Amino acid sequence: MAIQLEGKVAIITGASSGIGAATARAMAKAGIDVVLVARRRARLEEVAKSVRDLGRSAHVIVGDVSDMRHVAAVLDEAENHFGRFDIVFANAGYGMERPVHLMEDTELRAMFEVNFFSSVALLRESAKRLCAAKRPGHLLMCSSCLSKFSMPNLGAYAASKAAQESICRAMRFELAADHIEVASVHPITTTTEFFSESSLRSGTQGASIPEHAPKWFIQSPDRVADAIIACLRRPRSEVWTSRIVRLSSALFTAFPWMLDMVLRREAKRPSRRRAHSPKATAKVP
Ligand SMILES: NC(=O)c1ccc[n+]([C@@H]2O[C@H](COP(=O)([O-])OP(=O)(O)OC[C@H]3O[C@@H](n4cnc5c(N)ncnc54)[C@H](OP(=O)(O)O)[C@@H]3O)[C@@H](O)[C@H]2O)c1
Repeated sequence: MAIQLEGKVAIITGASSGIGAATARAMAKAGIDVVLVARRRARLEEVAKSVRDLGRSAHVIVGDVSDMRHVAAVLDEAENHFGRFDIVFANAGYGMERPVHLMEDTELRAMFEVNFFSSVALLRESAKRLCAAKRPGHLLMCSSCLSKFSMPNLGAYAASKAAQESICRAMRFELAADHIEVASVHPITTTTEFFSESSLRSGTQGASIPEHAPKWFIQSPDRVADAIIACLRRPRSEVWTSRIVRLSSALFTAFPWMLDMVLRREAKRPSRRRAHSPKATAKVP
């Protein structure tokens, strides 16, 4: 039987744009109240307004997820405001397109801090609180289809997403007896600010990925949000939004030479061979 979502409370990080904002609206439509977390207050307030327009409550928390003190503060504030939380979606993250050998160690660590360590910290602390209160819950992390197959210039990002998937799989079974569901979300190319932000951080010029990706490989953030709602209703370990990419990733795992063939051809495309500046011009540190 499908789980009823009406009246539940969800915490979403990276809720100021893209997949996080779309998920907040989809959750509101499903009857869920939301706590929205990110660094840009004005953008969070816009999302909060759209949630309230849909008839649900929204509470905004401004902060950087890589500040570990923030984790307990976010959960405390959610509990103070709504009395509890039931769902946590660790979605904040970013990418960088750069060959691994041209990345600074600090850049690599900063990416893992946001994409991996902050997501793990949030889900761990959430799990501890849900277990202590003996309450069921649903914990999700926004990974990527690249968790299954790395690509040139996206090696560090893919590694952070593979680490997320790996830890979600273990947590899912560690927490099963406590009635806490855990899932990783694996979007394909999604039309969000991700690519402009990534290009800014990478110091790359030229077409962003959606411009040279095949049309069937591009989707809207609403599509990802709908798949997340479906998972909340009928829990599963991985949320996928493209059957063809999911099947391809299974083939690539079984026959790695197939992936090598695809990547060799991809590496020859001029847009893939563009110069990568060793210094990023990131918007944020
Ligand atoms: N777009 C894609 O093709 C794609 C594909 C697969 C997976 N994903 C994953 O989807 C997730 C959401 O990305 P998106 O596509 O929706 O991109 P987006 O529109 O750029 O959203 C990223 C969100 O993360 C927040 N964020 C980034 N760093 C943060 C930090 N240090 N502290 C707090 N918030 C932070 C941003 O908010 P502020 O800037 O306001 O802090 C923003 O709300 C990411 O984990 C990404 O890896 C995206």
